[in-house]
Amino acid sequence: MLDPRRVRAETGRETGHGTGYGSGYDVVVVGGGVVGLSVAWRTARRGLSVAVVDPAPGGGATHVSAGMLAPVSEVTYTEEPLLRLGLASLAGWPSFRAELEDESGAALDYRTDGTLDIAYGADDMAYLDELAAFEKTLGLRVERLTGRECRAFEPMLSPSVRGGLLARDDAWVNPRRVLRALLTSFEKAGGTLLPGRVTALDADSDGDADGDRPGGVRLASGEVVRATSVVVAAGSWSPSLLPGLPVRPIKGQILRLRGPEGFLTRCVRGLVHGSPAYLVPRGDGEITVGATVEELGFDGRVTAGGVYELLRDARELVPGITELALTETAVGFRPGTPDNLPLIGPAGSPGVFAATGHHRAGVLLAPITAEAVVAFLTGGEVPDVVKSCDPGRFSR
Ligand code: GLY
Repeated sequence: MLDPRRVRAETGRETGHGTGYGSGYDVVVVGGGVVGLSVAWRTARRGLSVAVVDPAPGGGATHVSAGMLAPVSEVTYTEEPLLRLGLASLAGWPSFRAELEDESGAALDYRTDGTLDIAYGADDMAYLDELAAFEKTLGLRVERLTGRECRAFEPMLSPSVRGGLLARDDAWVNPRRVLRALLTSFEKAGGTLLPGRVTALDADSDGDADGDRPGGVRLASGEVVRATSVVVAAGSWSPSLLPGLPVRPIKGQILRLRGPEGFLTRCVRGLVHGSPAYLVPRGDGEITVGATVEELGFDGRVTAGGVYELLRDARELVPGITELALTETAVGFRPGTPDNLPLIGPAGSPGVFAATGHHRAGVLLAPITAEAVVAFLTGGEVPDVVKSCDPGRFSR
C-alpha cells in the first residue's frame, strides 16, 4: 500500500509527476485494456505517478468485446456474488461515463434501453419464465412480453418470436470509444503509456529501497520500469506474471455488421440451438454479433464454422441481418476463472495487486474494479462487494 499522505486531493488534473522512465513510478499497471486503463486513470487522478505497459494499449479483449453492461440478463443461477458485483459496477457507470466523457471530450455511445431476451418455442419460453421468476427473487426488474410486444419494441425481430423478457436496467456502451477516452483521459491526468511487453515482475535487483516490494517490471527489451506498486491487469496473459493465478483464455469469435441507423434499438439476445446469441446495436448503425465460447487456449483463428454459427443464430433472431454488410470478424480471449468472479486485490508479494479474470464482464466491471484497486493502493475503503474477488481464495 502506498503512503496515503502521498495521495493528493482528487483534482483530476494535478500530477506533479516528473518521474521518468528510469526514476520510478508510484504504480505501474501491466495491461492496457478497459480494466488496466480504468485503474490507471483513476489512480493518476488521485495524484499518483502511473505508467501503463502494454505492447498495444487498447488492443486486447476489450477492443473486440460487445460492451454489454448487462448484469440482469446475464445472471446465472449459481453466481449471486457476480450479480451483486455487476449491479454495483452498473450503478457506478453513469458517473464513470460522465467524468470520462467530460475529461476526454468524446461521447461513449452509452445506452440505457435495456436488453430484450427472446424465445421461440414453448421450451424457450418456459426457460425464460423460470429465469424471470428467479430474477424477481433477487429483486431484479424484468418484464414478461408477448411476441407481439417484442416486435413492437424491435420490428426487425423474426415473426416466429413467441415472447421475451425485457431487462430495462441493462445498458451498453461502445467499448472502442471507451478505450480511446480512457487513453486520452489517462494521459491528460499525467499518466504515461509505455509500449512494451512485460516478461516478469522485477524484485529488488533494480535498487528498490525497502527490499520487500516488487521494484517494478522487466520488459522483453530487458529494460526495467521501476515502481513502488504493480497492478497486473493483463487479462488472459496474467498467469505469465503471477504463476499459479487461475486465469485461462476463453476464446470468443465475434462479428461486426453495418446497417442503417435504428435497425435495432436495444440489445437483443436469445438461445438458438442451445447456444446464447446476442446483437448489440450502436448509434452509427454498427451491430456487434456475438459470440462463441471456446476452450481452445490462445487459438487466434477466426474459423468458417464460428462465423457460420454466429450468422446462422443471428439470422434466426433477426432475419434481416443477411442484408447488412459484414465489416469485421475477430477473436478475443476472455480471462476466465474457476468461479467466474474476477481476481481483484493483493496478489502474493507486497505491493503486487491483481485486477484480472473479468471473464465476460470486463467493461461492466471496470468502474468497481478501479474503485477497489485505488482503495487497495491508497489505504482507502474497499467496497464490500469486491471482497468475494480475493485473488487468494482458491489457495485456501
Ligand atoms: N459478455 C459477452 C461475451 O462474453 O460474449
